Amino acid sequence: MSRPWWQDGVIYQIYPRSFADSNADGIGDLEGIRRKLDYLEWLGVDGIWLNPINPSPNKDWGYDVSDYTDVHPDLGDMATLERLVEEAGERGIRILLDIVPNHSSDQHAWFADSRSSRDARYRDWYVWADGKDGGPPNNWQSVFGGPTWTYDERTGQWYLHNFLPEQPDLNWWTEGVWEAFDDILRFWFDRGIAGFRIDVAHGIVNDKELRDDPPDPEHEGRVKPVYSMNRPETHEVFRRWRKICEEYDPARLLVGETHVLDPVVMASYYGDGDELQLAFNFACVYAPFEADPLRSVVEQTEAAIPERGWPVWTLSNHDVIRFPTRWAGGDPDKIRCALFVLLLLRGTPVLYYGDEIGLEQQEVPEERELDFAGDRDGARTPMRWSAGPGHGFTSKDVEPWLPFGTGTDVESQRDDPDSILSLCRALLAARREREELRSGAYASMSAPECVWAWRRGDSHAVALNLGADAATVDVSGMILVGTRRDRDGEDVSGLTLGPYEGALVQL
Ligand code: GLC
Ligand code: CA
Repeated sequence: MSRPWWQDGVIYQIYPRSFADSNADGIGDLEGIRRKLDYLEWLGVDGIWLNPINPSPNKDWGYDVSDYTDVHPDLGDMATLERLVEEAGERGIRILLDIVPNHSSDQHAWFADSRSSRDARYRDWYVWADGKDGGPPNNWQSVFGGPTWTYDERTGQWYLHNFLPEQPDLNWWTEGVWEAFDDILRFWFDRGIAGFRIDVAHGIVNDKELRDDPPDPEHEGRVKPVYSMNRPETHEVFRRWRKICEEYDPARLLVGETHVLDPVVMASYYGDGDELQLAFNFACVYAPFEADPLRSVVEQTEAAIPERGWPVWTLSNHDVIRFPTRWAGGDPDKIRCALFVLLLLRGTPVLYYGDEIGLEQQEVPEERELDFAGDRDGARTPMRWSAGPGHGFTSKDVEPWLPFGTGTDVESQRDDPDSILSLCRALLAARREREELRSGAYASMSAPECVWAWRRGDSHAVALNLGADAATVDVSGMILVGTRRDRDGEDVSGLTLGPYEGALVQL
């Protein structure tokens, strides 16, 4: 049986408001993305994941959905989306959307009805409870701080929200909610959507009895989300969705935002090959950029993922500080090494837009901040396509929704064989050309301190020196791609690497 497209492929995450603005209103949109398909094909990606494109009051920038089966007017309309899907498909690129099943917007018609009276039709689509001792129903804490409960005077009860009060949690103990999401999945799959990234995948179901969470010994004053999230019933949701995915050809893909740090818990979301096909690995995102911790995250991940599962790797996204800043502090040598990590492990890599040029986290001045949660704006600024006014993102006199920031851009790197973009493209091309770089097993190799080296299959090795001194690894063969491109094609017998240098070697 041939492997599914996403096992061989590379996914590219686009934050739609910040990729390309086609109508000069300062906001990126679907038509802008369509016009950049040539670029994405040239880069060599196989799938695109779009952050939420649904109508939303944008209290949490699209993660507060007010209509699950339509397109936000800032981003375009259904016809533009269909055209995007079709033209991407002609280039062998599939489109994944983001689905937010844990909560809706408080502006969703379901919630408007739910809060209207205790016997409203949609009352039990959300989690309503009586308070305790004059306070909220239990001790659960919102991911964004404060209690997960808000008192609603109209009906004299509290409603649950694991995130903002404007993001009421859906009640997955209500059969109607399950059916509604079955329909939402099918609605998009019928329109050629190749799958979903599932927001807060580990948190969809809450404890039916609303039991108190235990204190978190590691964080003073916090509780561990044992009952508010990570419930066993969540797996049933994914088994049901997976069956729906398998009704389609090709089978649709589920990628979970499984924000759990224990690799074994993370891997549980693969089920027995009957739940998520991919579960995001946050232990890797939060690891320091050092050989030992990274090797151990990868080894633990490889050990935990079931045989029918498949790893997925990402280093940046719309919620965390971009890796060229977080891991590399802007140092181009380190950025290059990080791209080797992302693109040469066993598993599906997910590039965040801008990763391919080593785009750094941007400073967003306080008066331009739009997100309530601190640093996230700096990872969501417009793509820097070129140096001139508008940066190829929008028209020249238009102020973008978030500032451009500073730094590199696509145009200045595109024709430079020594650029980060060219390196990224070379690694993507190597994956396409070499079966072992897609499917070959991962095996750690012994290496001096600060060096992380691994084999892929029988005839490829990757070595990264993540230390400040030169080091020699016991690897012999020909360098296919080096972080120092002047070494491409070099025959080595024992591979000596300078500080923050890496190489992909054909053994
Ligand atoms: C996920 C999203 C994040 C959002 C949160 C609540 O973590 O990635 O952007 O704020 O869910 O929906
Ligand atoms: Ca626009």
